Amino acid sequence: MEQKTYLQSLFGLDVKTILVTGAAGGIGAAISKGLAMAGAEVALCGRTLAKCQALEAEIQAAGGKASSHYLDVARMDTIQPCVDEVAQQYGKIDVLFNVAGVNKREGLLDVEEADYDRIMDTNMKGLYFVTQAVARKMYERKSGSIVNIGSHNDEGMLGGCSVYGAAKSGVVAFTRSLAVELAQYGIRANAISPGHILTELTQVTWDHPTRAPWLRERIAMKRPGYPEELVGMAILLASDASAYMTGQAYHIDGGCLCGGAPWEYDTKY
Ligand SMILES: NC(=O)c1ccc[n+]([C@@H]2O[C@H](COP(=O)([O-])OP(=O)(O)OC[C@H]3O[C@@H](n4cnc5c(N)ncnc54)[C@H](O)[C@@H]3O)[C@@H](O)[C@H]2O)c1
Repeated sequence: MEQKTYLQSLFGLDVKTILVTGAAGGIGAAISKGLAMAGAEVALCGRTLAKCQALEAEIQAAGGKASSHYLDVARMDTIQPCVDEVAQQYGKIDVLFNVAGVNKREGLLDVEEADYDRIMDTNMKGLYFVTQAVARKMYERKSGSIVNIGSHNDEGMLGGCSVYGAAKSGVVAFTRSLAVELAQYGIRANAISPGHILTELTQVTWDHPTRAPWLRERIAMKRPGYPEELVGMAILLASDASAYMTGQAYHIDGGCLCGGAPWEYDTKY
């Protein structure tokens, strides 16, 4: 087999239909573009249809395949219609990327029920029921790959993120449940847990005089990650190259959870 054909057979997404939630956000857009450039037809699902449509046009202009679909994961009544619409349009859903997520930083003694519900409804409950609806379609074909976006905060907690951290830890626990229950039906589930990624949403932190150096100090690579740096893992988990991978959360964090050196020490180099 030729080198190119071999790589294509492992990592190519030519025949895959992929549903992405929160597709028009910083990370969602980078992943959606990457999947489309690897050959997938990508169903871009989100609350702001116009943003999904702008991304759809960008992908199509680059020669990729994409479509836009309305989905508010925090509203149960929008989930099934969206999943049905995508399944009907493409005849199948091979891969699901749960990217939609929200956060609000505040002390845990101050958290009010409305904020708790908004974060949990989006990051945990919505993700759960979108996954259930898509997994039912995958079950019919005994095949599928589910990829949930976790976070640094599913393991290394940052202050002021008590609800978000609990939700993201729940996402990883749920990923394990999916793997355990659905492997017998040919369905795999994994999480990608991004470290500190520079997006529009986090630009303010990376511009901050004390927060940015604090974070840099704790990242082995001493810099934020970029959404495009999640694409390689996204393609791997969507493709047949990950056929024996299920039930894990992969931290892509430039070496943030691995530890650090709080002191100067002598070296011979
Ligand atoms: N940026 C980071 O450093 C970072 C780190 C770890 C994890 N994450 C996670 O990555 C994911 C994407 O984050 P991002 O940084 O791209 O932020 P973002 O705000 O750019 O993207 C989030 C997307 O989710 C969508 N969304 C929010 N609520 C929704 C709902 N109810 N229904 C449908 N869509 C909804 C938003 O419209 C947006 O498109 C989130 O799950 C986030 O928790 C981000």
